[in-house]
Amino acid sequence: MSTLATTVDGLKFTNPFVIGSGPPGTNVKVIKRAFKEGWGGVIAKTVSLDCSKVVNVGPRYAKLMANDGKEVIGWENIELISDRKFEIWLDEFKEAKDACPEGILIASVMEEYNKDAWCQIIERCQDAGVDAFELNFSCPHGLPERKMGAAMGQDPGILEKVCGWVMGVSKIPVWAKMTPNVTHIEEPTAAALRAGCHGVSAINTIRSVMGVNLETLRPEPTVEGYTTPGGYSSKAVKPIALRMVMEIAQLIKKDFPGRTLSGLGGVETGADAAQFILLGSDTVQVCTGVMKFGYGLAKDLCEGLLEFMESKGFETIDDFKGLSLPYFTTHAELVRMQLARKAEDAAAKERASMVKNDAEWDGDDFVKQSNELSR
Ligand SMILES: Cc1cc2nc3c(=O)[nH]c(=O)nc-3n(C[C@H](O)[C@H](O)[C@H](O)COP(=O)(O)O)c2cc1C
Repeated sequence: MSTLATTVDGLKFTNPFVIGSGPPGTNVKVIKRAFKEGWGGVIAKTVSLDCSKVVNVGPRYAKLMANDGKEVIGWENIELISDRKFEIWLDEFKEAKDACPEGILIASVMEEYNKDAWCQIIERCQDAGVDAFELNFSCPHGLPERKMGAAMGQDPGILEKVCGWVMGVSKIPVWAKMTPNVTHIEEPTAAALRAGCHGVSAINTIRSVMGVNLETLRPEPTVEGYTTPGGYSSKAVKPIALRMVMEIAQLIKKDFPGRTLSGLGGVETGADAAQFILLGSDTVQVCTGVMKFGYGLAKDLCEGLLEFMESKGFETIDDFKGLSLPYFTTHAELVRMQLARKAEDAAAKERASMVKNDAEWDGDDFVKQSNELSR
């Protein structure tokens, strides 16, 4: 009998499905709802110490629809981190843990490049009883002028220093959330893991421009006639997320064995989640999928993943974590392997035809046939 229960960094998850930081974890009411609907964990919307510096605009979403005009396949947002008061968040973390002690509650935090601010936010959330941290180094549009989010995550030197500050005060597991808006995601990942983070999450949204309105000739989402590049998520980003998860998992396997990976980007089904786990994820997060399908998606995800595990005879998540990782190589190696296989096929065909010739030889024309063979 297969089980979805899994322990990651000492955290006991009833299943590997975790709500990714964003609107689905934006207050205690929805966090409690998520646990009741069966999510193994919830990462709350990213918080900072001073919400007065966080000013959102509207509209802040734009969607890419499939040709049927009904299904959302890509989602751009220019939403910032939470604009709710930090003190209220601390009360809500306590309330969520009191109401749902089994649910794994992870605080997502972001601060400026300031040691005191990072230490303070970690200590106060920790005292409120959260189970773990996710450090948001990855929001592509949010507050680059304050060197926050991706602006920090794109600089491995700064990232390593900040992770070091956090590890100096955190008594609970810490995951660093990586931005995909870099050439080599292994570099900031290695920096976070060198600083001692227990694991990483990947990916946050991809910097994007959703499109231009051909009536108004203005880019979207349009705010006062203008826009700013935002973060792209949902189904369309899954192939990019899988590639980055694979690269991180290979780095972990080679240089940081035992560290963990929380994979996300476009997950909507148990089959999607199975692929993230096969490429090395310990847990799988969903953000936009919850906005599209609701909190009840947890049930479908669990059923779909269990069905896959039972069809393959896997009893636990660890039985198949990273199993597909060894099947990546270079293009040059693919060429070499394919030429070698074709040569092997030709040789086997030649051997088979010689055996056939021997078996069919009736002794006539002996001289003619032996002359042909020796030619
Ligand atoms: C509207 C919206 C708001 C988001 N806000 C946050 C945030 O506050 N902190 C964060 O770390 N990620 C945030 N994200 C990124 C998601 O957590 C996730 O990394 C990304 O959307 C890819 O996963 P998905 O395709 O399952 O949404 C947000 C995403 C969306 C769509």
